[in-house]
Amino acid sequence: MTPEQKTALAGFLDTAGDYLGDGYRRPRESYDFAGDPAAPELPVRESAGSPDLGTGGPPLPSPVSSGIEEIAEEIRICGSCPLGAGRTNAVPGEGVNNPLVLVIGEGPGQDEDRTGRPFVGRAGQLLDKMLAAIGLRRQENCFIANVVKCRPPGNRDPAPAEALACRPFLNRQIACLRPRIIFCVGKVASNLLLGNEEWATIGSLRGRFFEYPAAPPVPLLATYHPSALLRNEDLKRPAWEDLKLLRSKLEELTGN
Ligand code: URA
Repeated sequence: MTPEQKTALAGFLDTAGDYLGDGYRRPRESYDFAGDPAAPELPVRESAGSPDLGTGGPPLPSPVSSGIEEIAEEIRICGSCPLGAGRTNAVPGEGVNNPLVLVIGEGPGQDEDRTGRPFVGRAGQLLDKMLAAIGLRRQENCFIANVVKCRPPGNRDPAPAEALACRPFLNRQIACLRPRIIFCVGKVASNLLLGNEEWATIGSLRGRFFEYPAAPPVPLLATYHPSALLRNEDLKRPAWEDLKLLRSKLEELTGN
């Protein structure tokens, strides 16, 4: 991403924050991205996720991995917790096999429940822009999933029992996808993936890598949920720092 594109992205984030705040555009400091390194050209991976349902964004190729698609089929008929009874669609996740980055959010919202696809609402559009800023796209080198696959009513946090009931699906997705990095957005995904008994604030978890205990261990980075960025513009700068950290780790792991 060029400095001009980064300035455009920062402007977009500002405008989105203003719009969602009080509707008034505020005066801004100017951003200086001239010193930042360019986004790397990252490898393209084989598609693994759900096909495009015509709800926005470029079409995804048809799923090709039996493993990840079998898990998705089980998710679509799951009745292990009460969230299944209220769903329009379960949202297994989408993206490529062996992704560079597995992004993990909290759970489907209204748009995701309607379409069966993860992160397609306003927060999802921002997530796509954040990922694109460091050369990542769900159609090419990422997989996007959630800790719970069915929408919690009223967009509340998933209850512990719901997250527990759904967890085997996420564990199997991680084992099947074998991501190079896990990127948790928001406090729910971050605390659950880190196995924290006492939940920490996302502000105290972000900004450094942890190890997710798979074999082999997977580097895990936490950051703010894109919905939080839409609500609070002060979080945009630390979120951008996290994205740069993610990109550096990818460069270290892939040599690109
Ligand atoms: N928020 C999430 O955490 N996940 C989604 O899929 C959409 C919004």
